[in-house]
Amino acid sequence: MKSSLLSAVLALAPGAIAWKQVSSCDDIKYTSVPGFFLQDDPNTNPSTFDYASQNFGLLNRTYPTDAKFDPRHKKTQWQRFANYVDSLNEECRRDKKTTYKVLFMGRHGEGWHNAAETYYGTPAWNCYWGELDGNGTATWSDAQLTANGIAQASKANAYYKSRFEQEKMPYFESYYSSPLKRCIQTANTTFATLNLPHSHAFRPTIKELFRESISIHTCDRRSTKTQIHAFAPHFLFEEGFSEDDLLWRGSEDEGETSAHQVARSKIVIDDVFSHDDNTWISITSHSGEIGSILTVLNHQSFGLNTGQIIPVLVKAELVEPTVEPTTTYASFTTEPTCKSPPLTSIAGQGCVCATVTTTTFTTAKATLKAEL
Ligand SMILES: *[C@@H]1O[C@H](CO)[C@@H](O)[C@H](O)[C@H]1NC(C)=O
Ligand SMILES: *[C@@H]1O[C@H](CO)[C@@H](O)[C@H](O)[C@H]1NC(C)=O
Ligand SMILES: *[C@@H]1O[C@H](CO)[C@@H](O)[C@H](O)[C@H]1NC(C)=O
Repeated sequence: MKSSLLSAVLALAPGAIAWKQVSSCDDIKYTSVPGFFLQDDPNTNPSTFDYASQNFGLLNRTYPTDAKFDPRHKKTQWQRFANYVDSLNEECRRDKKTTYKVLFMGRHGEGWHNAAETYYGTPAWNCYWGELDGNGTATWSDAQLTANGIAQASKANAYYKSRFEQEKMPYFESYYSSPLKRCIQTANTTFATLNLPHSHAFRPTIKELFRESISIHTCDRRSTKTQIHAFAPHFLFEEGFSEDDLLWRGSEDEGETSAHQVARSKIVIDDVFSHDDNTWISITSHSGEIGSILTVLNHQSFGLNTGQIIPVLVKAELVEPTVEPTTTYASFTTEPTCKSPPLTSIAGQGCVCATVTTTTFTTAKATLKAEL
């Protein structure tokens, strides 16, 4: 059996899969098809890669469909790639068990929580500052973008504009965002002012499970649905989106495990593939969550700096479900924390707090009393 929280999340997700002929007995297997983007190549260095200097990483190559589609060599790389993807889906319409999508996943621009982690250093951030709402000058609970973060999203805006206008890159047909404000702001700054055709208007849907790894930090606790709606009135919510954040457990010092995150990332990707027949899809999310989705898509790991974007050609196939592994995993575990800025933190051991905490002292006293 899986963890209780995952079952709860599963219960929230739409029950039967409605993709073409999918029955509830089918599972979806994902493959990132290599050979189309630089980001698939193990020799590409993610820490220095910039989508905006490389046409989003689209490889300059020919496709088997070029001869028929572009006999006079007049089309752009993006037009020929889009035509090739269409031809793949055309073949799939016959077997009904396979489909292809092009997912563009963008990490939000720099938020106040990113600035604070740099300012305080990662050990002090993880063990103390990240658990607070802010420091009096900056607020990082459900952090918004810094000026640098807005500039990163504006850069994406200008780059998309150039690709659409000069390179005839296809417009997105669907837009999704994490419910956290830094992603909503990034998606909005990136797409809202683009001159998009009416048929491909920017009508983003917020999906709960595109949110960041649910750590004890307040930047991973979302605002209420009412607050999000007031912040971005033109963003839609997926069905069943709850008023309150039911997943964050920071007040109990508990954070999501990576096994849980990968499992819930598969749920949201299955949901998109089962209910959205569009091919060109934009997702605005987070470093940890995009990393987790890349795992689900069987893509090589490719860490994104703030504001960076990765496209993936995804092949999805309906398969007989594999036997559920009987091993259980913890969904949430206690994360270390200190009552004041820590001396340091040690990988694998956690926080080295500056002083003995009140909690420990009280527990010791209670134990002593019980013994008496
Ligand atoms: C493809 O060619 C164009 C134009 O020469 C160049 O700007 C782009 O960087 C090339 N893309 C890759 C992935 O090498
Ligand atoms: C609060 O944190 C921000 C970084 O997010 C930093 O720039 C600022 O100086 C800090 N304020 C105080 C009072 O330490
Ligand atoms: C979204 O973009 C529009 C158009 O630029 C702007 O008026 C609005 O304030 C933006 N909202 C957010 C939340 O960024």
